[in-house]
Amino acid sequence: MDTGLILGIETSCDETAAAVVRGGEQVLSNVVLSQLATHQPYGGVVPELASREHLRAIVPVVRKALEDAGQTYESVDALAVTQGPGLAGALLVGISYAKALGFALDKPLIAVNHLDGHIHAVLLEERQKGNRELRFPLLALVVSGGHTHLYLAQEKQRSWTYQNVGHTRDDAAGEAFDKVAKLLGLGYPGGPVIDRLAPYGDPAAIRFTIAQMKHSDRKSPQARTSDGQPRFDFSYSGIKTAVLRYVETNQLQPQIEIRRKALLSLPTPSLEDYRKLCDQRTLDLVASFQNAMVEDLVSKTLEAARQYEIATLFVTGGVAANSRLRRRFEDQAAQEGLPVYFPSRPLSTDNAAMIAAAAYPKLLAGALAPAEFSAEASLALR
Ligand code: KG4
Ligand code: ZN
Repeated sequence: MDTGLILGIETSCDETAAAVVRGGEQVLSNVVLSQLATHQPYGGVVPELASREHLRAIVPVVRKALEDAGQTYESVDALAVTQGPGLAGALLVGISYAKALGFALDKPLIAVNHLDGHIHAVLLEERQKGNRELRFPLLALVVSGGHTHLYLAQEKQRSWTYQNVGHTRDDAAGEAFDKVAKLLGLGYPGGPVIDRLAPYGDPAAIRFTIAQMKHSDRKSPQARTSDGQPRFDFSYSGIKTAVLRYVETNQLQPQIEIRRKALLSLPTPSLEDYRKLCDQRTLDLVASFQNAMVEDLVSKTLEAARQYEIATLFVTGGVAANSRLRRRFEDQAAQEGLPVYFPSRPLSTDNAAMIAAAAYPKLLAGALAPAEFSAEASLALR
């Protein structure tokens, strides 16, 4: 147990992932098998197909993670698996497999919250860089396909605890990127494509307004946490409707259909292919949408940081891979003298290294998963 060699398994959505991490910070292997090709024709993740693909992939992915790390089933000290939140059927594949493996090998098993994993992706890499002295209070924005959450984090004897001070009231930020990309015939997932196309458009071309909580709203019960602290909620379903309205008003539909069909016929479209299929008005629309999303995420997060007198900011999850989001957070946080940390891009999106890293303090604390634990699609982070 001294070396803390943990085999992490992650199957919460559409990536089958396994990784071996030593002591919560040394990544020996990190294997991520994306199901992109399976879900792409549907413009989003189909839960039944995700479970089926996890079932197919889990054994070879775990085997590859062990091989890449130069380890065996027997040589790891413990196993860690994502318990939730995520798709119940998809989570169950990882959990059943990890439980069976733990039982057969007689190894300890740790259940990890996927969002704790995203936060540990940042920690893992900061520790690798030698940054062991984070200042508290710390605020973490976890922004992905399924989540837009703000957490106040505390560390006690290496274990982290959290208080939620903001979440989305409807769509998650990544979901908005995905839905807008689908609407514009740009395929799935939307975030990476919008990120790459946006620099060719004018971010100020179309002014999208995102639902704001007025100052007076702050007094309403919805604007407070259960212990009376201010909340900083997000809302992204309105901007999706605004994009739809723009498409209808400007009669972009025929062009979108041509683009959708053309992209479906290309196995791996390049940036040039995407660009050729978008006129300037569409590029401006993409850039303006991304700009509105980024400004809202940055301004609300920094407002929360000021309110809670935050000393360190983490931004993590799939949307944290967005180039403009990173740049704007860096610029704006620097103006306020607030250090902001992101994971590298490969660790921003779903992976199992973050799950193994989040499991390490739990292993040290002896917080093992009870034998009867199961998938929790809406598992809260505390
Ligand atoms: O963390 P993640 O891999 O899975 C969830 O836990 O949801 O996040 C996936 C989400 C998708 O919505 C995807 O469109 C978005 O992250 N995403 C991005 C970028 N890369 C991935 N959004 C904006 N810009 C990106 N570069
Ligand atoms: Zn995630």
